[in-house]
Amino acid sequence: MSKQLKQHAKRPTARRGWISRVFGSILFVGLLYPIFIALIASPSVQKHATFKHMWKFPYFVQYDAPEKYGLAPGKTLNINITTPDNCTLGAWFVLADPFYQTLRSTSPAQLSPLTEPTVLAAITAHPTILFLHGAGGTRAASFRVADYRAYASRLHTNVLALEYRGFGESTGAPSQAGLVRDAYTAWAWLLARGARAEDVVLVGESLGTGVTAQLARRLASEGVRPRGVALLAPFASVARLVEAYRLFRLPLLRPLQSFPWGIKLLKRMVHTEFDTLAAIQEFNAPTLVAHAQNDREIPHAHSQTLIDALVEPLLPALEPGMTLTTEEALALQKQQEARSAKRGEIVKTTHVPKFGMVEEFKGLRASFVYVETFWGEHRDVGNQEGVVDEMAKLFRLGVYRSD
Ligand SMILES: *[C@@H]1O[C@H](CO)[C@@H](O)[C@H](O)[C@H]1NC(C)=O
Ligand SMILES: *[C@@H]1O[C@H](CO)[C@@H](O)[C@H](O)[C@H]1NC(C)=O
Repeated sequence: MSKQLKQHAKRPTARRGWISRVFGSILFVGLLYPIFIALIASPSVQKHATFKHMWKFPYFVQYDAPEKYGLAPGKTLNINITTPDNCTLGAWFVLADPFYQTLRSTSPAQLSPLTEPTVLAAITAHPTILFLHGAGGTRAASFRVADYRAYASRLHTNVLALEYRGFGESTGAPSQAGLVRDAYTAWAWLLARGARAEDVVLVGESLGTGVTAQLARRLASEGVRPRGVALLAPFASVARLVEAYRLFRLPLLRPLQSFPWGIKLLKRMVHTEFDTLAAIQEFNAPTLVAHAQNDREIPHAHSQTLIDALVEPLLPALEPGMTLTTEEALALQKQQEARSAKRGEIVKTTHVPKFGMVEEFKGLRASFVYVETFWGEHRDVGNQEGVVDEMAKLFRLGVYRSD
């Protein structure tokens, strides 16, 4: 083949490649992207993406054998709790370790299976954690069992771990209001069995922090004060999660956010709020927020947003002029310096080598502790021993217990 002929043979293929790429892009932008947006706007797709309740790992759980998942024999009672709107919620009640050890050492033969009267005794003898889990999975998921064990042994608390409606073996379908109702029902279950409000600590993980925040806000509005609230790997609100949403690392919603109507559309598309940023301002009980810097599911910036919002009303206001002259810019800089000096006075910060950072301050209505760890990722930040010990201190549990 001559040179000329070769070039002739090449050109059409090159052009076809170029054309098909342009055509592909147009197809994607014009057709597939709207389909994608329509899909994620659909309430049922969002419900599955938010709650992931159909992922019932580990599969085929033997709920009546918590021992299979690492809990000591006769330490856990498998129960059902019925909600006012007739959902049956599966739950485990795990005994505080000191209580369990006493039972074990004083029973003559093999420990018999746990019974309800023993649970009642444990509820009055030890504080209890109401554990509100994150998206997906069952109450038997290994990283959750790791939490129950850490709390029972290190905090000396009982743990009530329930499965929300639609999760695990619980009946019904999940929704924001439904999950909050489930949490309130479990709270009432404890109080009906002799727990005082000041004996119960609310602990939420990931999606469960949204539920916990709504429950804590509701209790505060009723003038009821739990012993404490812990938000482990929380998010500021669903809207803020959506802003940074990525699928396979692609910021797929970014194009919409470039237009005011796109932002409006996104806001209207989101069917769950879980607005923890608003709720946390109303908390009336000591609150611990913990987040790992190596959390790849929910960035720790969400926790920093929550903490900053709590500190904000304690700082001198920032009053920038509309157009900044040199003097105004200087004044603004002074204000900012004054604010960060004031933050330094209000917030006691401790850097702990190899562990992370602890910030403590008194908010308008409650004391707050923020623990930012180096490790723990998303699922395990709540059972880092350093985090659990901060819970012990703030909530007066374990070796810090005082009633
Ligand atoms: C709880 O309810 C489920 C049905 O929702 C049932 O299969 C299970 O046996 C019940 N468990 C207990 C301990 O009653
Ligand atoms: C509650 O739900 C169960 C099934 O989970 C059903 O058998 C029962 O009739 C319901 N009761 C009421 C009052 O709706």
